[in-house]
Amino acid sequence: MLIAQITDLHVRPKGKLAYGIVDTEAHLRRMIASINSLDPAPDLVLATGDLTDFGLPEENAHLAELLATINAPVRPVMGNHDIRENFQAVFGGRDGVPKTGFVNYTVDLDPVRVVILDSVRVGSHEGLLDAERLTWLDQTLAARPAAPTILALHHPPVSTRLNAHFDFPGAEELGAVIAKHSQVRRVICGHNHEVVHVPWQGSLVTVAPSVAHQHKFDALKPDPRFLIYMSTPGFMLYHWRRDLGAAGDFVAFWVPVGAFDGPYEVTWARDAPDASAAHLVGDGPG
Ligand SMILES: [Fe+2]
Ligand SMILES: [Fe+2]
Repeated sequence: MLIAQITDLHVRPKGKLAYGIVDTEAHLRRMIASINSLDPAPDLVLATGDLTDFGLPEENAHLAELLATINAPVRPVMGNHDIRENFQAVFGGRDGVPKTGFVNYTVDLDPVRVVILDSVRVGSHEGLLDAERLTWLDQTLAARPAAPTILALHHPPVSTRLNAHFDFPGAEELGAVIAKHSQVRRVICGHNHEVVHVPWQGSLVTVAPSVAHQHKFDALKPDPRFLIYMSTPGFMLYHWRRDLGAAGDFVAFWVPVGAFDGPYEVTWARDAPDASAAHLVGDGPG
């Protein structure tokens, strides 16, 4: 069982760049080529929010066209850059995505389960989980307590930065729900455009890198600025392993995407450094 996570695609209408500088369509096409070349292929691709840049109808249409070129099944998650109604006009009513209301739904695989939670606060870039969404999550998790579960939501529910600013009403209550349901092995998020892992409430929060632009690392500064740069994009892979821990668990891999030199097959001679060599073996997954 292999689950891919792509996040923060920030797709714009055809021909337009994000912030006037980021060709998010080109980034997404490279990412899709990389995912489609994976061997073994993923069983599922989760797209964890900020799928569009402004939530516009034409951005959602462009996004749907691009996602349709992924060979594996794709399940979308809402992010703060998405607009629920426009998102649902394109993705609602199929694959379990609700047509109206919060975009909360599940993907039941064997033995793994994915629970998708809508953490969007309308009109804000910050996250929010109210009683309705938390109750839905609690009841949904209670229905299959033995299924190893990935919880996917856009906003990381724990502060990953040193500065005091962390505005996510409901995050603490979410922690109490997670602590109750030990089958939640991973909480996977986007939003930060950087790779982060934080142990939290008996689970592990993983933030995936963006498909496109990344945030310049500033997490340990008391007063960070919002800086993006064109560092290496990538995606995450979660490989289900029944042999790990008491009841199985996931191994997470970060897979960079770009035009890299190689791959090379290496011959390493312990006692003869000058005899060590590397031979180009042709194209691997980019
Ligand atoms: Fe984003
Ligand atoms: Fe975001």
